[in-house]
Amino acid sequence: METAQIKRSLGFKAVDELVRSGMKLGLGTGSTAIEAVRRLGERVREGSLRDIKAVATSFQTVVACQELGLSLMSLNDPAIDGCLDLTIDGADEVDPRWMLIKGGGAAMLIEKIVAHASRDFCIIVDSSKLVSRLGEKARVPVELVPEALIPVRRSLEALGGQPELRMARMKVGPVITDHGNFVLDVRFPQDFEPRQMEREIMAIPGVMAHGIFTRPVTDLLVGWPDGRIEHRRGPPGI
Ligand code: A5P
Repeated sequence: METAQIKRSLGFKAVDELVRSGMKLGLGTGSTAIEAVRRLGERVREGSLRDIKAVATSFQTVVACQELGLSLMSLNDPAIDGCLDLTIDGADEVDPRWMLIKGGGAAMLIEKIVAHASRDFCIIVDSSKLVSRLGEKARVPVELVPEALIPVRRSLEALGGQPELRMARMKVGPVITDHGNFVLDVRFPQDFEPRQMEREIMAIPGVMAHGIFTRPVTDLLVGWPDGRIEHRRGPPGI
């Protein structure tokens, strides 16, 4: 089965199995998460899901919701009050403990805030995202204020990383995030302990966010090339 079809099935299944009327939802970013947003739009339009209060994690998701006619709120809205029932999002890597690298779409700042505000955190990935250690294939994205580019780069090198400034494709110069920041994609050739690396990167002045996610994933949906969608419930059995 083609990857695009696997992503559609993942988004469909996550919404149909986990979302109930009246829920407060976090809506993720990326080509997989957006399929869940599309399914949510369909279900709300047909009336089989009602009274959904949703918070978006990026401009990509905001635009998709506008096109689908889905209303959005902020985490600070009194009706949300900083707490969500469930967030559905994608990931770039998932390790055997279900720790994640995210941020391929440079949205990790709000993705992380929304994930931490959620009781349940559902990750939807095709099987190519499963790795034996974080950093095996993906680089760790680090969002930083532009003024801190050189000192942050040096600090990441001191942690053993090989940072590279993410460049834009349809604009000259670097990628600018939804919050006006730069992104350094950092390759870590050596193994690292995710929780420790998470703390060390966040301690660098100028860093706004990074793509190592260690909060517990409650539901992991994996799409396989034969079309099977496997729904694993956390915590992982290792
Ligand atoms: C966005 O910043 C990311 O965290 C995405 O959720 C992640 O990169 C996965 O994206 P795809 O589903 O497009 O692979």
